[in-house]
Amino acid sequence: MGFEPGWDSAYHFVMAHNHSEQPFYGQDLAYVHGQGFAHYWDGAADWLAELARIPGETPYAVDIGCGDGRMLGKLEQRHVPGCGFDVSESFVQAARARGLEASVADANGLEVPEATLVIALGEVLAYCNASGEVALERTIRSSADSLLPGGSMVFDVTCNDMDASAGWSDGDDWFVAYRNSIVAENYLERRITVFVEENNGWRRTDEVHRQKLLDTNEVEALLLECGLRFKRISAMGDVPVLPGRAAYLAKKPKQARVEGHI
Ligand SMILES: C[S@@+](CC[C@H](N)C(=O)[O-])C[C@H]1O[C@@H](n2cnc3c(N)ncnc32)[C@H](O)[C@@H]1O
Repeated sequence: MGFEPGWDSAYHFVMAHNHSEQPFYGQDLAYVHGQGFAHYWDGAADWLAELARIPGETPYAVDIGCGDGRMLGKLEQRHVPGCGFDVSESFVQAARARGLEASVADANGLEVPEATLVIALGEVLAYCNASGEVALERTIRSSADSLLPGGSMVFDVTCNDMDASAGWSDGDDWFVAYRNSIVAENYLERRITVFVEENNGWRRTDEVHRQKLLDTNEVEALLLECGLRFKRISAMGDVPVLPGRAAYLAKKPKQARVEGHI
């Protein structure tokens, strides 16, 4: 879409208007997420680091949808090294700039490396990729194979008690507004508009994210089928799980056997 620099309807001078080519988290939204949102899980770091420690094993964390690597960095500070994967190049660059091991990869089709802890925080496994696929099933199957016995997987997903909502947030040099709508019964569509200030002007970027609203019965049946024991959790460490999300702590039994709740 073409765009001429000029005043927008909010009387800001807008220098440029991006329509991100990657499905999510282009440069400006990745920046805004790092500034305003990535700290959300900070209070979960101690809890996650403890989960990564299995007697007799070297702790190792895999962060799927690692964003800018903030949690991987916190785990490393707690002597849990690891690596991250994300579809967003901007995020992977940011994680590498922190000195972390991160790669651009779609969780769909990713072979999860051997680990004592696999995390996917921030609804990662419910996102629809460019082909409309959701990574939940493949990631759980691959993680169940790759986790060392006694290892843990922690994730949250959007689920079918999500409501429509809208909101905004800002910082010194950024502003973001979003509108969440429920579409086609079991999808969340999140329309996001970001402004980032640069060289005395504001650059606008629009992204549309789609996430599946997952049926928790199906998620739990899949965990069971993969031989993981699980419990649905309402907080990760001190951090409450957000409304409309279902979060799980799943564990690979020390001796392989199929069981239900932890
Ligand atoms: C809400 S952000 C959460 C980022 C980070 N985990 C955090 O908590 O700050 C969701 C992340 O999932 C990534 N993502 C979504 N679908 C993905 C997929 N199929 N494979 C890899 N990463 C994905 C996005 O690029 C984004 O970084």
